[in-house]
Amino acid sequence: MTEPQPIINKLVVVGLGLIGGSLAAGLKRRGGCVETIGVVRRPDIGTQAVKLGVVDRACGSLEEVASELGQGDVVFISVPTLAVAEVLQQARDCLSPQVTITDGASVKGSVERAAEQVFGEAPPQLVLGHPIAGSERSGVAAANPDLYEQHRVILTPLDNTDPEHLARVMKLWEFVGAEVLTMSVAEHDEVLGATSHLPHAIAYSLVDTLAQDIGNPNIFRYAAGGFRDFTRIASSDPVMWHDIMRANKDSVLNALDLFVDNLTRLRTAIASEDSDYLLGVFTRAKAARDHFTNILAKRAFVNSMSSSKIDYLLQPGGQVSGTIRVPGDKSISHRSIMLGSIAEGVTEVEGFLEGEDALATLQAFRDMGVVIEGPDEGRVKIHGVGLHGLKAPAKPLYVGNSGTTIRLLSGLLAGQKFDSEMSGDESLAKRPMGRVADPLRSMGAVIDTAEGGRPPLRIKGGQTLKAIDYPLPMASAQVKSCVLLAGLYAQGTTRVTEPAPTRDHTERMLTGFGYSVKRSGATAELTGGGKLTGCKIEVPADISSATFYMVAASIAPGSDLTLTHVGINPTRVGVINILRLMGADLTLSNERTVGGEPVADIRVRYAPLKGIQIPEDQVPLAIDEFPALFIAAACAEGKTVLTGAEELRVKESDRIQAMADGLQILGVDAQPTPDGIVIQGGPMGGGEVETHHDHRIAMSFSIAALRASAPIRVKDATNVATSFPTFVELAKQTGITLEVIDS
Ligand code: S3P
Repeated sequence: MTEPQPIINKLVVVGLGLIGGSLAAGLKRRGGCVETIGVVRRPDIGTQAVKLGVVDRACGSLEEVASELGQGDVVFISVPTLAVAEVLQQARDCLSPQVTITDGASVKGSVERAAEQVFGEAPPQLVLGHPIAGSERSGVAAANPDLYEQHRVILTPLDNTDPEHLARVMKLWEFVGAEVLTMSVAEHDEVLGATSHLPHAIAYSLVDTLAQDIGNPNIFRYAAGGFRDFTRIASSDPVMWHDIMRANKDSVLNALDLFVDNLTRLRTAIASEDSDYLLGVFTRAKAARDHFTNILAKRAFVNSMSSSKIDYLLQPGGQVSGTIRVPGDKSISHRSIMLGSIAEGVTEVEGFLEGEDALATLQAFRDMGVVIEGPDEGRVKIHGVGLHGLKAPAKPLYVGNSGTTIRLLSGLLAGQKFDSEMSGDESLAKRPMGRVADPLRSMGAVIDTAEGGRPPLRIKGGQTLKAIDYPLPMASAQVKSCVLLAGLYAQGTTRVTEPAPTRDHTERMLTGFGYSVKRSGATAELTGGGKLTGCKIEVPADISSATFYMVAASIAPGSDLTLTHVGINPTRVGVINILRLMGADLTLSNERTVGGEPVADIRVRYAPLKGIQIPEDQVPLAIDEFPALFIAAACAEGKTVLTGAEELRVKESDRIQAMADGLQILGVDAQPTPDGIVIQGGPMGGGEVETHHDHRIAMSFSIAALRASAPIRVKDATNVATSFPTFVELAKQTGITLEVIDS
């Protein structure tokens, strides 16, 4: 291995505590600089730092080394926040403008102000920064060369910061393993004031309260894990935190005021035994904390804040076997939260899908004041607030990748007294919303969309809705459900007529909640102004997720797989019908009805498939299953032709194009048409396929590997978590060789 090249010449660290010492040690150990020099007031600390190998040499003032420094050298100021000004003064007096100066203070506004005072204007060589890697340990003895590995460093460049100096500091931090972000000084201080400075203030105050004010002298003897977890940071360096509180006074006070208000409200709720309030705070906080844990673990969640994208790498060949249960139905999970929230009383859900899409719906209702306990292994308890009990959310609702959330919710929100806004991720931002906005507008709703009828949607509250008779222009359960949900708030009887049967979970579930929905032929109707009563819901396993394994077993010789408790609602069984027409060996057993939805166990054994003309009446019944069915077609003998499926072009991706492109990369003859595809079955090779952020494209190409002759790399499989969080686990369990890799 070749030695790494130094990225800077000399690193001078002023103040050899944990932060400065760790940067020096980290850079030195990785060979990132020619020399490290410590500047410390106390000679004994300098001696200790050299002995520990943290720096090459130490001296007592910046002035002593200043004449040696020039272009390519960096001075890192890591003294307590309020002492930075004094070091800046020395820097002004002795450093040339070629030397890069940066700092690690926890507050950036105060350093910016100090620089202005000292220099008149902050100099271009000064790069303000803050490594988010503190610890309750302090001093040079705590210096750790790996402290910054996988930690974040925030740089807050000013308008006149020189890009070359900025780039040098960025490189420096990246070299010791940190992830570098940039933001404005004001944003930094606001965010850190709330997430770091406030918790420190509270931890110090809590420990002090227990130590000083509570009479019992044995108090700490009985303190257990909760105390330890909550107060660890109260043993941080007091001088450093004194400085931070003063330096970031305004932001800390804002955050503290909010907290004091909320704590007072919590006190009132405890005093008055207000269970709803207490459960509301605790469940929301738990969800937010769990979300945070997910981010820390680099797992994706609702708001794909997780920056880590993953790919799947699949080895070719193999077979699938065993008995598995795939997670709960996505459509039913969404609806359970929506209807449970606007019902009166408690709704208990089992088998809830803990995927990002359904969690986005759950979060949206929490944001509108509904107390929702869980999810805990698929169990969710919703404390319904009634048709008119939702509250205005404090900020726009973020629904991630979920088309079902935004479309169904727009119907509900159109009937509320308050204004609301919904936005989503990159894929959702491209999807058409005119299909829901148009009928809602004709009911009297006021809705704004972005250009081309795309999200975000802004919905004006306080409108009087009137019922409509709506012939759906396309076979869409989302649009049907949206209009029916708005109909709950409308005067009169709303009727929706569909051009072809689409999933009827909304109608079935409304009936389960005691709300009358009439069905005559292709028309569903309901009358506004009734009420929903909380109930129990058991969510069957999602046939759309089961599909990947049905196709896997059908195409891989030797396979024998049973999928249990799969929802087989007649409006969803297109995949079973189509696979059977292609010659697949599927056996249904143990058929029963749970909570108004039919379910069965499905056994799938390998059978040679043949190409078919897919009957158009099956298209709406299998609308989400086509990406996987295209893989079946690629493995079948002969030609498969799909028509009448233009809706596939406006799903999470253009699924016709995305699948055709991917299949062609694997060497399959797949020709897209405006409303479908023609696939000629044949041998399949390996390669890299794009998913276009679409979960179902990712899972389809994963199972394709069973019949490929070389490895397949599925690029960006992150969104599989939207609908099928256990996909990888079940793939491995059944015999698919899948490796998850950072992309
Ligand atoms: C869904 C309806 C379908 C489907 C989507 C879920 C629902 O969308 O593709 O995954 O839960 O109502 P369309 O209504 O756009 O067909």
